[in-house]
Amino acid sequence: MKNIGVSIIGSGSAIPKVFLDNQQLSQIVDTSDEWISSRTGISQRRLADTTESLCSLATQASLAAIGQANITAQDIDLIILATSTPDDLFGTASKIQGELGATKAVAFDLTAACSGFVFGLVTAAQFIRNGVYQNVLLIGADILSRWVDWEDRTTCVLFGDGAGAVVLQASESDRLLGFELRSDGSQNGCLNLSYQPQAKEIIEGVNVSQGTYQPISMNGKEVYRFAVQKVPEVIEKALFRANLDVEKVDWLLLHQANKRIIDAVANRLKIPSEKVISNLSNYGNTSAASIPLALDEAVRKGKVKSGDIIAASGFGAGLTWGAIIFEWSGIKLSQK
Ligand code: ACO
Repeated sequence: MKNIGVSIIGSGSAIPKVFLDNQQLSQIVDTSDEWISSRTGISQRRLADTTESLCSLATQASLAAIGQANITAQDIDLIILATSTPDDLFGTASKIQGELGATKAVAFDLTAACSGFVFGLVTAAQFIRNGVYQNVLLIGADILSRWVDWEDRTTCVLFGDGAGAVVLQASESDRLLGFELRSDGSQNGCLNLSYQPQAKEIIEGVNVSQGTYQPISMNGKEVYRFAVQKVPEVIEKALFRANLDVEKVDWLLLHQANKRIIDAVANRLKIPSEKVISNLSNYGNTSAASIPLALDEAVRKGKVKSGDIIAASGFGAGLTWGAIIFEWSGIKLSQK
């Protein structure tokens, strides 16, 4: 049987209308533009208001990606929504499928926090490589502002909201050149948005748990240490699988969590700053959206061109981390 390859042929993104800069944040918590900029590289972030939903942002990003890929919603076989903040705990992917009118597509949510887009892309690629599906829409979207404690200066300054999407298509040549995914649940307590149970006795002797999710809690130092150590390792492993030297990488595209993490990883890999894609300053950490959002901006600015090799890595809660090495296609490929 002939091998089926994977190409990424279109991208799109969407951001909320409202933005909040560091100066405004300093009116909410005891912080300053100087502290946030120097420790994180973030200047402002976008925040979804009550008129916006995960579904609306994701749908907007998807329409842009579908348009760029020059396909129609009816061509899509599968929709994967990488998110930790669905509008509905039963899943939001199906609602997006309905909004898009992607009637042929099966849709489901995938949760891997800030690694969600990378995990989702590898998952999507398996369905293409095994010949089951031709066109897959992958969305990374998060509205973490819903789950941030706006009185906790150690976390609320870091996050923002947004959505990004890509279309993957079956192709003769394989442009997903290598990947590596990892998890370490023993460090799960470093970063959580966890359910806090509260007992409710529904009948004598029968208790159920009727709690709520607690705001994001994070051990920033541990997450920082983990990212700086593990991300270069996983990128090197993915490059090895792709049989490529680091010099062949045109763009380093990391999850946009912290400029110091991005700089440290680039240094460790000896990738010069001109090859680093970053839009963190404008959006903060948008979790699963950060990689496709930054990719889409770079594509639409004409920075990333067809044939460019991109090393992308996501990392975050779980703990989870992973890397993908791919060649940007950005054009419609002949149907198989
Ligand atoms: N403004 C002013 N001061 C602050 C703020 C703030 N927003 N936040 C913390 N501080 C104070 C602390 O209270 C502390 O004060 P103290 O020395 O009097 O106790 C001081 O600043 C230093 O705090 P640290 O936590 O040591 O600061 P650090 O240099 O580690 O920076 C940061 C914190 C930016 C969170 C860093 O640890 C980091 O970036 N970690 C990685 C986090 C990350 O990337 N998370 C997301 C990845 S996973 C995901 O995306 C879901």
